[in-house]
Amino acid sequence: MIATSRGRQLTVSPYEGEAMINRRFVLASRPNGMPRRENFRLEEAPVPTPGRGQILVRNKFISVDPGMRLRLSDRKTYAEPVAVGALVGFSTVGTVIASENPGFEVDDWVAGFLGWQEYGLAESKGVHRIVDLRVPVSTAIGVLGIPGLTGYFGLLDLGQPKAGETVLVTSAAGPVGSTAGQIAAIKGCRVVGVAGGKAKCRWLAEELGFAAAIDYRAETDLSQAIVAACPNGVDILFDNIGNAMVDRLLPLMNQFGRIVISGQTADYNLPPAERHGLKNTLEFISKRLTMRGLAASDYAARFAAAATEMTDWILAGRLKYREDIEDGFEHLPEAFIGLFEGTNFGRKLIKLP
Ligand SMILES: NC(=O)c1ccc[n+]([C@@H]2O[C@H](COP(=O)([O-])OP(=O)(O)OC[C@H]3O[C@@H](n4cnc5c(N)ncnc54)[C@H](OP(=O)(O)O)[C@@H]3O)[C@@H](O)[C@H]2O)c1
Repeated sequence: MIATSRGRQLTVSPYEGEAMINRRFVLASRPNGMPRRENFRLEEAPVPTPGRGQILVRNKFISVDPGMRLRLSDRKTYAEPVAVGALVGFSTVGTVIASENPGFEVDDWVAGFLGWQEYGLAESKGVHRIVDLRVPVSTAIGVLGIPGLTGYFGLLDLGQPKAGETVLVTSAAGPVGSTAGQIAAIKGCRVVGVAGGKAKCRWLAEELGFAAAIDYRAETDLSQAIVAACPNGVDILFDNIGNAMVDRLLPLMNQFGRIVISGQTADYNLPPAERHGLKNTLEFISKRLTMRGLAASDYAARFAAAATEMTDWILAGRLKYREDIEDGFEHLPEAFIGLFEGTNFGRKLIKLP
């Protein structure tokens, strides 16, 4: 039992009678290059008590995200850096176990950004109730969460796909890339993916309907392989990887081509001076190209409508997703590091009991 701010005792079954301890990962030190386990520290603290307007959530799924690497540096990007000693992490799905907010009831499923911890406090602003239970709740932080929504808005709003165009997606087997690529196919585009390894490429070509999938790890001449897979050039490049890939692809872009900068996973662990520059920028003039980055959060007002449309596609079998779910809260740092080694196959989530 725990006491709430009103002094009422709330049952927090099935933990009644157990010591309510919250395990959480904090940033122990800033990574220098590739993140390492010792950059994170596991701490224990009493489970917090919800105050007025708050809910206490017991997390069931916790995400690891490549973009979190940006927040581990001390440079401000589109997100604030995490302070050393502060909680790390991003998306979560869990159940409400105590509520001091009339908008939530105990046992509601909620998705939010409670980070790498077993329990978290939230207010209405920070979480939303998962109301459509026709798809697994984990999708609320995957294909229907920030990764899928990044694919959706990046492709549709910035990419402006037209039927018959060629769309090239990098890190195509990840949750962002696989969503963007499939939505491009739904819009009648010919989609080519670049991914690491046979299994990921087979999934894209055989199950997701990509016209071609190129294994960048196996190709001896990657540019040639992409030229061969895109005989009509590229109209939309949806890039998740970084400048080396964008620079390589600029000469392949068609007139009025659009380049969507979604992420730069290959560059996140490099200091700015070591990141690849763009040499082929003359292509912007010759081909009248545009390149735009997006922050998914800019589209928050449209998230619910987009998730509804994507749910319909999922239920109709037109949008597929893959989750790579691992048990064990303590594995979060390794799961995060694995993103930069390509060990995840789909949305990487840690599942809690
Ligand atoms: N702009 C936004 O608002 C926003 C929101 C969410 C995510 N993002 C970004 O979108 C990108 C994709 O995110 P995601 O969640 O879908 O993750 P993801 O694509 O699953 O990211 C991990 C994958 O990246 C690939 N990778 C790792 N290091 C690489 C390297 N050096 N070179 C090439 N590929 C490498 C690996 O796949 P392979 O095995 O195929 O190499 C790995 O499995 C990330 O950059 C993320 O930061 C942006």
